[in-house]
Amino acid sequence: MFEALDHIGVAVAELDPAIEFYRDVLELPLEHRETVAEQGVEAALLGVGESHVELLAPLGAETPVGKFIEKRGPGIHHAAYRCRDVESALEHCRAAGLRLIDERPRRGIRGSLVAFLHPAATGGVLTELVQPAGDH
Ligand code: CO
Repeated sequence: MFEALDHIGVAVAELDPAIEFYRDVLELPLEHRETVAEQGVEAALLGVGESHVELLAPLGAETPVGKFIEKRGPGIHHAAYRCRDVESALEHCRAAGLRLIDERPRRGIRGSLVAFLHPAATGGVLTELVQPAGDH
């Protein structure tokens, strides 16, 4: 069902200093940057081999990532598994009785399709299923 660990999502208070750290100190190339207003985040993808670090900065305190940072501080926010067919992966999880956040896949950054499982279903790890766009 899963092809790889696609990325880890890391919640950060501010995007630019976090990008500088990952790019300039850890030497991960910045591949993509995008604001997703409907999710209340500005995101950046940095490459590491076949995988990525996804930095997530909240657009406001009342956004999901803003609330996450207020409650738990900056840090690992979610783990994302890459799938060829997010629709069928989500259906598999639904059939297994897992609690879902997204009943249907929705648009993620860089043209991907994503769906989140509830952390209560996965031992406390917010889990994302991601189907990258065809050209990534
Ligand atoms: Co993600």
